[in-house]
Amino acid sequence: MSTEKKKLDSAPTPAPPSLPAPLTDLKIKYTKIFINNEWHDSVSGKKFPVFNPATGEKICEVEEGDKEDVDKAVKAARKAFELGSPWRTMDASERGRLLNKLADLIERDRLLLATMESIDGGKLFANSYIMDLGGCLNSLRYCAGWADKIQGRTIPMDGNYFTFTRREPIGVCGQIIPWNFPLVMFIWKIAPALSCGNTVVIKPAEQTPLTALHMGSLIKEAGFPPGVVNIVPGYGPTAGAAIANHMDIDKVAFTGSTEVGKKIKEAAGKSNLKRVTLELGGKSPNIIFADADLDSAVEFAHIGLFYHQGQCCVAGSRIFVEEPIYEEFVRRSVARAKKNILGNPLTPGVQQGPQIDKEQYDRILSLIESGKKEGAKLECGGGPWGDKGFYIQPTVFSDVSDDMRIAKEEIFGPVQQIMKFKSIDEVIKRANNTQYGLAAAVFTKDLDKALTFAAALQAGMVWVNCYSAMSAQCPFGGFKMSGNGRELGEHGVHEYTEVKTVTIKIPQKNS
Ligand code: NAI
Ligand code: MG
Repeated sequence: MSTEKKKLDSAPTPAPPSLPAPLTDLKIKYTKIFINNEWHDSVSGKKFPVFNPATGEKICEVEEGDKEDVDKAVKAARKAFELGSPWRTMDASERGRLLNKLADLIERDRLLLATMESIDGGKLFANSYIMDLGGCLNSLRYCAGWADKIQGRTIPMDGNYFTFTRREPIGVCGQIIPWNFPLVMFIWKIAPALSCGNTVVIKPAEQTPLTALHMGSLIKEAGFPPGVVNIVPGYGPTAGAAIANHMDIDKVAFTGSTEVGKKIKEAAGKSNLKRVTLELGGKSPNIIFADADLDSAVEFAHIGLFYHQGQCCVAGSRIFVEEPIYEEFVRRSVARAKKNILGNPLTPGVQQGPQIDKEQYDRILSLIESGKKEGAKLECGGGPWGDKGFYIQPTVFSDVSDDMRIAKEEIFGPVQQIMKFKSIDEVIKRANNTQYGLAAAVFTKDLDKALTFAAALQAGMVWVNCYSAMSAQCPFGGFKMSGNGRELGEHGVHEYTEVKTVTIKIPQKNS
């Protein structure tokens, strides 16, 4: 078996035989606001419904957090962060141990969490179980390992001084996460924050609050002191905005749309200039040269776009194919897309589930219509699928030009755009001609070309002969309007620290 073939086999679609069956008797136990390791009703008394996007059925109701609940959570987080508190006086290694304990508990509840994630978010069960839960465990354990390795430096300052730096926790961190990877985003946010010794007020997306709330119970069970993690489910313009505008939150970390990312930064500026990290939208270019391994490029381009129904920030949604192989690439991509089996995400063998909600579904369909109207060639799909849930046929457009809406706007759905290019200079310009800069990929066997693109593409992640290759050790984030700051890797951990320079007058320094 060639190495390329092996790589493809480990790409995130097929379910290995060892995959357990999803739970059939899933009970939702946690539906309240989690503050100080206790469950609270909302101050307003309001609740909101949570739906299964595969069926449109209501799963349960969850307490609806708003400004008053965020205030309560921030008070708890502030108290947990006070000097002398159990959290502030804890050994760094003990913070790492608690994070590892939390990972053990997630592993224990893996089947429950994966089933819940699939029902709440319309995510294929195999992906929830293997990719999402696997990713959570890796990221959590990675950050656990950092806890007692976050170090300052001693600095040879001019003059008779002894100078060192401390990397201190920032304080109370507000975190706002989306619905496409609910549990992964929860871990990407809390794990580095806690590793560095911060406290947290986190708001899950209104579409997918259930696994985050289950995490509340595990955080308590793991033994984190009260107030270290507080979870406030609720809507964006209410609970989310209360976090972004809060005068006693020291940092806000957000993943979601560029539109809301701008609002978060504005709110931080208007309130207390809290630190801001943002992971936003993308319109990532994927460049395929004629010398690439065509089968591999078609498969990676397919998965790079259709994974999780296209609802990925890194989706390779502008595919530039070199002219000599353009037609063949389109032909194979269409054949590949048509093979996708749609259905209930809990059913084994299903490869495409529903979009998250009616709003996203309507937006994707309207962008598909714009593609047809603006003259792109619809190769397959192009409409809704099934009679319930928010399903959209796998859709491929060829003859796409750069000024069409489908080539410019983030679609966040199962819609692939394939464009043609002739020269290196042309495709570099076109690939970078976007407000976004999250990810990019190039497929070629020519090392010179690969390295030229690695330097020229304006993106936080550049993949060569692969797509969506991510891991807890590697920084993740965007150039331009795809975000600020990085998550994961050493860079991501440092985003949760303030650097303090301590300078001590001494009688006489010596080299
Ligand atoms: P969104 O950006 O509105 O929602 C993401 C999170 O932000 C949710 O928790 C939401 O409650 C919160 N939020 C919304 N408005 C807020 C506000 N004014 N203040 C504070 N928090 C607020 O994203 P939405 O509406 O779910 O999806 C719209 C588009 O955003 C998608 O079509 C996609 O293009 C993009 N998106 C990108 C994601 C990514 O992974 N980077 C994830 C989700 C959406
Ligand atoms: Mg929104």
